[in-house]
Amino acid sequence: PEEVLVDRYAERTPYQRAKEMVSNNIRHAGPVLLGPVPEDAGLEAAVETGPAQIIRTLETSGLRGCGGAGFPTGRKWRAAAATEADRRFVICNADEGEPGTFKDRVLLTERPHLVFEGMTIAARAIGAKEGIIYLRGEYVYLRDLLEEVLADRRNRGLLGPAIMGVDGFDFDIRLQLGAGAYICGEEGALISSCEGLPGEPKTRPPFPVTRGYLGCPTVVNNVETLCHAARILGTGAQWFAGMGTKDSPGTKLFSVSGDCLNPGIYELPYGVSIRDLLEMVGAEDAAAVLVGGPSGTMIARDTFDRRLAFDDLATGGAVVVFNGDRNILEIVEYYMSFFVHESCGYCTPCRVGNVFLQKAIGKFRKGLANPSDIAYLRDLSDTIIETSRCGLGMTSPNPILSTLENFPLVYSAVAKPSADRTRATFDIQSA
Ligand code: NAI
Ligand code: SF4
Repeated sequence: PEEVLVDRYAERTPYQRAKEMVSNNIRHAGPVLLGPVPEDAGLEAAVETGPAQIIRTLETSGLRGCGGAGFPTGRKWRAAAATEADRRFVICNADEGEPGTFKDRVLLTERPHLVFEGMTIAARAIGAKEGIIYLRGEYVYLRDLLEEVLADRRNRGLLGPAIMGVDGFDFDIRLQLGAGAYICGEEGALISSCEGLPGEPKTRPPFPVTRGYLGCPTVVNNVETLCHAARILGTGAQWFAGMGTKDSPGTKLFSVSGDCLNPGIYELPYGVSIRDLLEMVGAEDAAAVLVGGPSGTMIARDTFDRRLAFDDLATGGAVVVFNGDRNILEIVEYYMSFFVHESCGYCTPCRVGNVFLQKAIGKFRKGLANPSDIAYLRDLSDTIIETSRCGLGMTSPNPILSTLENFPLVYSAVAKPSADRTRATFDIQSA
C-alpha cells in the first residue's frame, strides 16, 4: 500500500533516497572524478596559493567548460576577477537538461563535496562571497542531500565566514530549484530565473563575467567543470594536462545511452574514438551515434573513427547509440518536437521556424516530401541558426543538418516529385 511505501521512503537518509533515484549505474569508475577523491585537498591548495595562482594553475591545466561549449575555465575566472565590482557571484549550473546527458546528477549524488569544493575555489579565485547552485527541477530528490552536505561544510568551517581560518575568505552557497524549463540551463536564462524573472536568455555581450547575477560579475560553471577544477588544484595542472589531446586536455564524463549493452557514465580521456567507446559499451551493431545530444551531431558508421574532443566531435557528454532498426527520420522528428516545446518564444525564427522544420520532417516521414523540400530544410535551418538569440535556436536545426549531411539517402529516398508520388499511389492501388 502507498502509505507503507511512503513511510519506508521517509526512513532513508537523503543519500539513500538520491541513490535510489539514480537509475543509471556507473559502469567504469575512472581515475579522476569517479575514483577515490582526497577530500578538500584542492581547497587547501587554493587557500595556500591564493587567487592569482589558482587562475594560473587552471590556465596551465587547459581545463575547458564541460557543459558543452568548452570555454577555457581559467580565462573565464580571470575575466571575472579582473572586473571592478563590490559583489561577485559563483553559480553552479546544475540544470542538466540536454537529452541523453545524465553525468551531473551522478556527480551531485556521488561527489557533492567535490562540487561545493570547486565552487569555493572559484569564489577564492574571483573574490566572490555568495554562490548559488541552480538545481534542475526534476532533480528535486537531490535537494535534501545537497542541503545536508552544505550544512556539514558550514559546520566544518568549509563554508561561511573565514573559511579554513583565513580572514576575509567568506563564502556561502544557496540552493535554487529550477521549475522544469530546459532553457533555464542557458546561462542568461538561468541568471534571470535566479533573479526571480522569467527564464529568458539575455543578449550577449556583456557576458556574465562582467555583468551577471544582479548586474554583478558572475562565474557560471557546469557541475563537472567545478569538480575538475577542485581535482586540478589538489593534484596539479600537469597531471591533468598530461591526459587527453592538445586542444582538449584531461578527462570527460560521457553519458552513454541507447542501443548498447552497458549504458552509463564513463570517464575517459578526451580523444577516445567513437569506435573504442562503442566497443566498451557493447554496441557492435551501432548504425548511428548522436554525439552531444540533439544540439550536437549525428554520425554514421563509416565515421566511427572520429574522436570525442573539441578538436573533432565536441560534446557536453551525451552519446546516444542507435542500431540499424531505428528510423532516423522518426528520431529527428522527435528531437525537433523537443525544441519546439522548449523554445522560450522570445525570437520568431526559433519560435516559429522550429515548428516549420518539425512539420517539414513530418512530410518526409509520411512520404509527402518533394526533392525541393531538402533545400527548404537547409535554408530554413541556416536562417534559424543565424538569427536566433541564444544557443537553443542556434543549435536546434542540428539534428536535421547533421542527418542531411551524414545520412543523405534517408531524405532523398523518400522525397519524390508530386507527379511520381501520384503515379506510385495509383500503381499500388491498381496492384
Ligand atoms: P558559449 O560558447 O556562448 O559560451 C560558453 C561559456 O563561455 C559561457 O559561460 C559564456 O559566458 C562564456 N564566454 C563565451 N565567450 C566569452 C567571452 N568573450 N568572455 C567571457 N566569457 C565568455 O556557449 P553557450 O551558449 O553558453 O552554451 C552552449 C552549449 O551548451 C552548447 O555546446 C550545448 O551543447 C550546451 N548545452 C548543454 C546542456 C546541458 O545540459 N549540459 C543543455 C543545453 C545545451
Ligand atoms: Fe528563446 Fe529560442 Fe530565442 Fe533562445 S533562440 S531566446 S530559446 S526563442
